[in-house]
Amino acid sequence: MERNPYTLVFGREPLQVIPRASMVTQVVETFCAEPPSQQVFLITGVRGSGKTVLMTEVSKHLDTYDEWVVVELNPERDMLRSLAANLSSRNSLAKLFQSAKINLSLFGFGLEVTGSVPISDIEVALDRMLASLRSHGKKLLVTVDEAASTPAMREFASAFQILVRKDLPIFLLMTGLFDNIRKLQDEKTLTFLYRAPRLDMRPLNIGTIAGNYRKNLGLDGDEALRLAKMTKGYPFAFQVFGYFVWQSGSLGERAIDECKQYLDDYAYEKIWSELSEGDKAVASAIAQAPSSRVRDVREVAQMSTNQFNPYRDRLVKKGVVDGSTYGHVSFALPLFDRYVMEHS
Ligand SMILES: Nc1ncnc2c1ncn2[C@@H]1O[C@H](COP(=O)(O)OP(=O)(O)O)[C@@H](O)[C@H]1O
Ligand SMILES: [Mg+2]
Repeated sequence: MERNPYTLVFGREPLQVIPRASMVTQVVETFCAEPPSQQVFLITGVRGSGKTVLMTEVSKHLDTYDEWVVVELNPERDMLRSLAANLSSRNSLAKLFQSAKINLSLFGFGLEVTGSVPISDIEVALDRMLASLRSHGKKLLVTVDEAASTPAMREFASAFQILVRKDLPIFLLMTGLFDNIRKLQDEKTLTFLYRAPRLDMRPLNIGTIAGNYRKNLGLDGDEALRLAKMTKGYPFAFQVFGYFVWQSGSLGERAIDECKQYLDDYAYEKIWSELSEGDKAVASAIAQAPSSRVRDVREVAQMSTNQFNPYRDRLVKKGVVDGSTYGHVSFALPLFDRYVMEHS
């Protein structure tokens, strides 16, 4: 049997990709500008909205240029140390550091340098390493997937801020759930993050999805478009719908049921569990209301405009609710209304 072109796992580079060209270009062009207008971007969005895939696309793109060095760091570890270790483990860079007489022997990174005092502070070490990269026209991109306000992350961000202030060529691309990124931005010592540009994950293009389905699933134009609309442009659903329809060979009831269950088990359960009680109450009012009009939803929720608005705004920022049509609210995630009905 031929291999299913769609994937059910949260892979970094799915076989079928609906391009996010303008977002990739925005980050790449901003980082590559001389001088760069920004050295950090924050990617936020709900689980399954394609943050990791986008981050990977940008990294891969920059990695194809000689002058860029790309390092991914784990926000649960000592990030400064991991970064220094990673850089000095690359042969071509280790040579630069050695010729700049950067003595890292105290860190156990194994760089032999004679005739200079060993550096004992990791921030000093990174400062020297970046200065050496800069003098060779190189730039460093650090990526962090699923960032949260962990002690390691705060320590790293604070050091990053100082390196940027010294005009060193270090760039940061982070992904995270809206709440986690917001908490990090709210840290008093990390004000630069507050001003950092945020890329909120938008739905994928429905027309492009329809074209993809027509090509891979053998659906006619109308069916492909109907299926594409059912995904609401939610990337995880694009893969899941594609996968099960490909599997069953047609756009039938059974395939749709399998999709529902898969979305529930691998995305919605987690998304739902991370909502506050108030968010859940508003979500269930959206699911139950006779129309998507805010007035109808508020009536079901029994909330005044002032009570309702903060919840709506938060659900929109989290990527759960679509508030783009004035006076209306609906779910941004396909079949989520049914999930909410079943769980509230
Ligand atoms: N641009 C895209 N085109 C097609 N599929 C995508 C795209 N972005 C993400 N996906 C798919 O959606 C799912 C979730 O993507 P991922 O980047 O892991 O989301 P997140 O990191 O926001 O939770 C994965 O199965 C991935 O293959
Ligand atoms: Mg991810």
